[in-house]
Amino acid sequence: MRIEAGTQTFAARRRLSETVPGVSLARQHRVLRRLAPEIGPQPYLLAGGWLVTEWLAGEPCGDAVPVEALAELLYRLHGQPRFGWRIPLLKLLAFYWQEAAPERRSLLWLRTLRRLRQVGEPTPLKLSPLHMDVHGDNLIMTQGGLRLIDWEYAGDSDIALELAACGLGERLIDAYAAQSGLSRKRLARQVQRWQPWVQTLAASWFERRWQQTRQQHFIQLADDAWRRLQCREHER
Ligand SMILES: Nc1ncnc2c1ncn2[C@@H]1O[C@H](COP(=O)(O)OP(=O)(O)O)[C@@H](O)[C@H]1O
Ligand SMILES: [Mg+2]
Repeated sequence: MRIEAGTQTFAARRRLSETVPGVSLARQHRVLRRLAPEIGPQPYLLAGGWLVTEWLAGEPCGDAVPVEALAELLYRLHGQPRFGWRIPLLKLLAFYWQEAAPERRSLLWLRTLRRLRQVGEPTPLKLSPLHMDVHGDNLIMTQGGLRLIDWEYAGDSDIALELAACGLGERLIDAYAAQSGLSRKRLARQVQRWQPWVQTLAASWFERRWQQTRQQHFIQLADDAWRRLQCREHER
């Protein structure tokens, strides 16, 4: 909700009705309290199942994500002190599987989960605080520069996981390598290692959105994501 009170505008967000591993308003509040103000909105209040924060005046980026500015923002975020909890990827993936519509639980999905569990997460290039839900609607261009909102999935993990999850490909890797001074090749290789994780997360998330909304286009998106994972399986 957007709340206008006198000359000030606030964003208020209600607690989810369900529990998703690693997601809570209290955590989001803690994240915002720790972040430098040039990264996200200032938090004001956590009470009665509501989180109230600053409303950032500006435009959501939508499809027009400014890649250079994003690389700069992420590099700054990744240089902040760690939050103190890891992003529980395997738990999240298991949760989506458990919550899935029974007729949507496929052998490919099961095999993919089993394989990820066996192989385990890549050893981090750099363990940092991540946002983990970066897309145009969560990016606001303010007068003071680009900011991130919607911090519910934030936690510590590998910087390359964040870059993979942004889904912006080479352009973001190039810009981030230039910002950070990391080897472009090394970064690209590490982003590649996270691809099956990110693709499985995406597929699972579309499955979940389909269950919540019954909107047909989520099934199409899920099927596309599963198809990409199947191709990957064949390539091995
Ligand atoms: N603090 C904020 N400042 C500016 N706009 C916001 C803020 N919080 C939410 N919004 C607007 O509301 C939309 C949805 O809020 P968001 O926190 O991203 O929730 P959701 O989990 O539904 O994506 C955002 O895409 C943005 O346009
Ligand atoms: Mg959002």
